[in-house]
Amino acid sequence: MERVHVSNHPLILHKLSLLRDANTKPKKFRELVRELAILLAYEATADLALESVDVITPMGEARGHTLKEKIGLVPILRAGLGMVEGIWEMMPGAEAWHIGLYRDERTLRPVEYYNKLPVDPTVQVCLILDPMLATGGSAVATVDILKKWGAQRIKFVGIIAAPEGIKALTEAHPDVDIHVAAVDDHLNEIGYIVPGLGDAGDRQFGTG
Ligand code: PRP
Ligand code: URA
Repeated sequence: MERVHVSNHPLILHKLSLLRDANTKPKKFRELVRELAILLAYEATADLALESVDVITPMGEARGHTLKEKIGLVPILRAGLGMVEGIWEMMPGAEAWHIGLYRDERTLRPVEYYNKLPVDPTVQVCLILDPMLATGGSAVATVDILKKWGAQRIKFVGIIAAPEGIKALTEAHPDVDIHVAAVDDHLNEIGYIVPGLGDAGDRQFGTG
């Protein structure tokens, strides 16, 4: 479980509680998803490789750094969309590649409906963005897609995970780092995380 990182940052824990609150309306919910995504991505990118560069300041020359690898942001539609913009502002050189999956309500298995990855990989590090890791089916399927594409390093950045999702993702892909704000108690009989926050897509987009 050394690849599972559950944040204990006070800002993340504070915002997570606001996000969970059933009284939080979609506008505030979207703001919180955006802010949590930035904070979680900050933690998830602490080991990115750097290259040395020389920078000319108004006062002379300084040794500096530049990111060595190209980063791909891979939101899982729909709910992962709300995690993109904030992170992208922090790393404007990133590329965004969308994967469309929804869970079949009966089987809880992911169904792919959108994938616009180019033939060859264009990035070295992929951050999969999805607020919820429930059964883990969607995350496992996305890692499968990215590995088949040729992605070299993959990290999952989520907000709330169920123990079942952590188990499924670590067993299927033990090389993938998982960064979340919380690991909750269990999944209910219809595959929702308890206590969780309900339906992350519906709460962001005001549907359902
Ligand atoms: C939710 C969530 C994840 C998935 C997690 O998406 O955003 O993608 O469920 O569940 P899993 O770990 O059991 O696969 P959903 O299928 O509700 O689609 P949506 O984002 O379009 O609402
Ligand atoms: N998807 C959600 O949006 N919420 C859950 O609790 C599980 C899957």
